[in-house]
Amino acid sequence: MEDPVKNVKKLAAVKAIDYIRDGMTLGLGTGSTAYWAIQGIGERVKQGLTVRAIATSVQSDSLAREAGIPIVSFAEIDHLDITIDGADEVDEKLNLIKGGGGALLREKIVASATLFYIIIVDETKLVPRLGKFPLPVEVAPFGWEMTSLQLSKLGCKPVLRSVNDKPFLSDNGHYILDCAFGEIVKPALLHEQVNAITGVMDNGLFINMADVVIAAYKDGSTKLVERVSG
Ligand code: A5P
Repeated sequence: MEDPVKNVKKLAAVKAIDYIRDGMTLGLGTGSTAYWAIQGIGERVKQGLTVRAIATSVQSDSLAREAGIPIVSFAEIDHLDITIDGADEVDEKLNLIKGGGGALLREKIVASATLFYIIIVDETKLVPRLGKFPLPVEVAPFGWEMTSLQLSKLGCKPVLRSVNDKPFLSDNGHYILDCAFGEIVKPALLHEQVNAITGVMDNGLFINMADVVIAAYKDGSTKLVERVSG
C-alpha cells in the first residue's frame, strides 16, 4: 500500500514543476519532498525539457544525475532561475526553518542565488509561529563546545546532532547543533544573533526568501501562497 504522506509530498512537487520552462537553470532541494521534484524534473527531461541544475546536497546531486538531469557548477552560471526545496516549518509570512536533513548551508547558498524560490511542503509543516522544530545551526567542528555555549546564551539548549554515537557531519564537513528555542517571536532578529556568533556557518532560518509556498493536503488539495513583499 502506498504511503499517504508520500503521495501528499509528491502532489506539492508536481505543482512546483509547472513553473519550470525550457532553458532554465534550477536549484534542486534536499529531503523527502524535494525528492519528488527531482524525480518529476527527471521525467520531464526524458520527455525533452532542456534544463540544467545545481543540487543542495551530495544526496540530491546523485539523485539528479541518476534521473538524467544535467548538473552544472557555480563556476558555469551567474544565477539560478528557480529552486524547488522542502522545509521543516513554514510560518504565515513564509519564513522557514530548514536543515532537518543537515543541508541548510548549501540550501541557503542555492536559495540566495535564485530568482524564484519555491517551497513545497505537506500540511504538517505549516505553523502559525516558527520554533516547535529545533533550529538547526551549522558550526565549525573546531571549538564547537564554545560555539554551543554562546548559542545557549540566546535561550536554547543546543544538542549536537549525532549518528551512531558520532557527530553528524554535513556535506561541508561541519557539525549541526539543534537548538530548541521554543516559539520564535522575532525570527529575523534571532537569525542575525545566531549568525553573529563566531564558529556559526549559518542557521536554518530562511527569512523573506521563499517567493511561493505550495502546501499539499491529505484530502488531495493544494494551496499556493505567495510572499507579500515589504
Ligand atoms: C534539508 O536539510 C532540509 O532543509 C529539508 O529541506 C527539510 O528537512 C524538509 O525535508 P522533508 O521534505 O524530508 O521533510
